[in-house]
Amino acid sequence: MTMTFTDIYMPPRLLAPGGTPAGFTTHQQRYGPLSYGNPAHLLRTLAESGLTGRGGAAFPTYRKLAAVAEAGRRAGRAPVVVANGAEGEPASAKDRTLLRLSPHLVLDGLQLAAEAVGAGEAYLAVEDGATLLETALTERRDPLPVRTVRVPKRFLSGQSSALTQYISGHAALPRHQRPPVREQGVRRAPTLVQNVETLAHFALIARYGADWFRSAGTPAEPGSALCTVHVPGREVRVVEAPFGMLLHRLLPLDGIGAVLIGGYHGTWIPAAEAATRPLSMADLGAGVLAALPADRCGLAETARVLRYLALESAGQCGPCLNGLPRIAAAFQALASPGPHGTAREDVARWAGLVEGRGACHHPDGTVRLVRSALTTFAAELDAHASGHCTATDRTSLLPVPGSRS
Ligand SMILES: Cc1cc2nc3c(=O)[nH]c(=O)nc-3n(C[C@H](O)[C@H](O)[C@H](O)COP(=O)(O)O)c2cc1C
Ligand code: SF4
Repeated sequence: MTMTFTDIYMPPRLLAPGGTPAGFTTHQQRYGPLSYGNPAHLLRTLAESGLTGRGGAAFPTYRKLAAVAEAGRRAGRAPVVVANGAEGEPASAKDRTLLRLSPHLVLDGLQLAAEAVGAGEAYLAVEDGATLLETALTERRDPLPVRTVRVPKRFLSGQSSALTQYISGHAALPRHQRPPVREQGVRRAPTLVQNVETLAHFALIARYGADWFRSAGTPAEPGSALCTVHVPGREVRVVEAPFGMLLHRLLPLDGIGAVLIGGYHGTWIPAAEAATRPLSMADLGAGVLAALPADRCGLAETARVLRYLALESAGQCGPCLNGLPRIAAAFQALASPGPHGTAREDVARWAGLVEGRGACHHPDGTVRLVRSALTTFAAELDAHASGHCTATDRTSLLPVPGSRS
């Protein structure tokens, strides 16, 4: 029998066992029916559970729902809820796996979120798989109809304001953070944007309660998370693991030089550090874990990702428009063995200049990746500066759309 990581680490909460998509009848048999009609109780249970967003920022879900409900009351307008399944991060597959295997958990969570904030409209935004989800929707009798929206395949499409702009009929580009989406999102209505995994956890918390949710994870970071795991020579896998589990149980670290945690807005750490590091929401970002073998070049890997991130910038804000391409070009120089001139200092300086200066967090996430690469691959930077590269295997690990490797 093929053993998946999910079987080993914990009984699956979110992903249908056996990798078989669950239709509505199976879903109801497995999890039982949902009850509606008590939004205050729903919000209380959510607060007690300590659930945080799984879309990257780990924001407390209860606080966001309460803020949207309050914004709706203040504006005298029913809020809009959006399930965010855009999954713009190229190295992530967790959201589309969840939507394929357990679509009804996400749809349950969307209805519950709608009830909790008093929403009048609901959307499910995905980059692909919309047809299957439309079929799943026809199996249900939901209190609030849900419309599916296909978003463009871009890194920024799932950023919350880009998503609400797109649903409102504009280009899928982030807009300035004020007023926030929770006050003015889709067609200027208060809007709740929630990652699809967050909604699926909510669907289980509503059924089984906060104590059940807290029975996995740590007191500070309760529950579990879906992770997309990249290990060279193996298929990319989506696994569900509790917070607090040591990373080496998720990623074999033999022959590994560094681990990327969180995705392209995430952090490189040396493999030795990963051996003792627990899975934490503070690091996990978009849920990506990738093990880079010691015989590959972390600088070359980072340079490819930075080039992609610079091209994906919406080009609306000066620091992002000018800064990210410069950082990417200088980093490309660092990735090639030979004299680098001032490239190392330039990258560090430009990183400081773009940080916190964009309308969205794209520059900040990119800077996080850059800084962690400069630290984790410091020895490789020195080797490159003196004309050597210690890597012997040039195969790429991380997927970059539009690149051949
Ligand atoms: C550049 C950028 C891209 C993002 N892409 C996604 C995405 O594809 N999917 C997602 O759920 N959140 C994405 N986010 C985060 C969303 O803006 C938002 O915080 C999230 O959907 C909220 O849901 P959560 O609280 O359940 O995590 C992105 C953020 C940034 C800055
Ligand atoms: S910071 Fe960059 S990606 Fe974000 S809105 Fe501005 S230009 Fe676009």
